[in-house]
Amino acid sequence: MPVTAYDLTGRTAFVTGAASGIGRATAALLAEAGATVHCADRDGAGLHETVAEIGEAGGAAHPHLLDVSRRAAVEAAVAAAATASGRLDILAAVAGVMHSSPVLETRDEDLDRVLAINFKGVLYACQAVARNMIATGTAGSIVTMASGAVDTGGAGLLCYGVTKAAVFQLTKTLATEMGPHGIRVNAVAPGWIRTPMTERHNNSEIQAHTAALMSRMSPLGRVGAPAEIAHTVLHLASDAAAFTTGQILRPNGGVAMPW
Ligand SMILES: NC(=O)c1ccc[n+]([C@@H]2O[C@H](COP(=O)([O-])OP(=O)(O)OC[C@H]3O[C@@H](n4cnc5c(N)ncnc54)[C@H](O)[C@@H]3O)[C@@H](O)[C@H]2O)c1
Repeated sequence: MPVTAYDLTGRTAFVTGAASGIGRATAALLAEAGATVHCADRDGAGLHETVAEIGEAGGAAHPHLLDVSRRAAVEAAVAAAATASGRLDILAAVAGVMHSSPVLETRDEDLDRVLAINFKGVLYACQAVARNMIATGTAGSIVTMASGAVDTGGAGLLCYGVTKAAVFQLTKTLATEMGPHGIRVNAVAPGWIRTPMTERHNNSEIQAHTAALMSRMSPLGRVGAPAEIAHTVLHLASDAAAFTTGQILRPNGGVAMPW
């Protein structure tokens, strides 16, 4: 496979969570690879920074201010992006939130909020983009963002882990249903990555403990960087992964739970 398999020139990508962390790194890398990138997020200031950074680097990016947990907003943004660019080749559904609470203190509203963003938000984007790919006859690539928390569990991670397990299921089911259309669907399940999300939660005792534990459990002895996850997304989005679908890739520094 030539290295040019990673060339995304002429392709269009829709990236959620593009205002920060892994989503921002993903949007920037897909643009660097040649794609026109539609950047979606609810954080207007962060979105503006991402789009400006891509533009300054010579790439093409367009902002879409939205809340991924609102179906109508996601559908409208995907439709606008598809109209502007003709079709959509790539979805990277990265937007998500962390929530940490012990099982015995977890409230209905916590579970509902995290599910609405981390699972329904991914589902709405997958549905809207896949429908567009089918309508335009595009053999596209959909990449969802799950988490190593599904494999490891961890104190406080009930709500978060449940939503990411749901993303595993969505990814495998959608891959099966989209295969006949030539559309590939894969998930990325990162280990602990240093981003604003994890930095914020480092302030809580439970998350500082998790970060330290993950570093110790990795053969590489460290946590990861957003660009390292963006490269996994680029691989799955590109022709280099033309025979890869229904998979969960785990860029996690080799963390393996002994239990
Ligand atoms: N950082 C890690 O260690 C790690 C590990 C595994 C998985 N992940 C996943 O990677 C993804 C990105 O995480 P990150 O660490 O870059 O976090 P981050 O907080 O830096 O970025 C998340 C982005 O999602 C956006 N977002 C959140 N809720 C939204 C909503 N309702 N509508 C639109 N945008 C919304 C935020 O505004 C932000 O820009 C998440 O899905 C997260 O669960 C992160």
